[in-house]
Amino acid sequence: MGGMSIVKINVLAVPAEQREVLERRFASRAGAVEGSDGFEWFELLRPLEGTDQYLVYTRWRDEEAFQAWMEGPMKAAHQGGQAGQAGGAGHGGEGERPKPAATGSTLWSFEVVQQASPK
Ligand code: HEM
Repeated sequence: MGGMSIVKINVLAVPAEQREVLERRFASRAGAVEGSDGFEWFELLRPLEGTDQYLVYTRWRDEEAFQAWMEGPMKAAHQGGQAGQAGGAGHGGEGERPKPAATGSTLWSFEVVQQASPK
């Protein structure tokens, strides 16, 4: 551990009827970030109350590691950088792109000031 990790949270607006679609798409991309240098943690957080927005919680060694992921592997994980294409080509459609489940997104950045885990 040590050092100050950074947290990048992508906030996704997802209509209720699209939740299942979104979660399925994430499930099929589960391995997309794990091997990246400086990657520390990922969680997809489904809202229970207080908001309708999903949080894509990610934690990284530093800003550089996150930026490197954004410029390379992330584009693969999102198939070209647009999550709207996350369903992927070759899904047996007529070459149609699946519609994004999310209607919008916002990226939040944080520094980890303090943390604890079970002893
Ligand atoms: C903080 C880092 C991340 C950023 C900045 C980011 C960026 C985005 C954006 C902009 C969208 C929604 C675009 C839209 O409104 O159509 C999205 C959706 C999505 N992302 Fe990410 N993402 C991040 C992390 C991840 C990770 C770690 C994974 C895989 C484990 C992932 C997989 C997906 C999938 C499957 C969707 C759903 C597309 C949909 O159907 O709406 N993302 N991401």
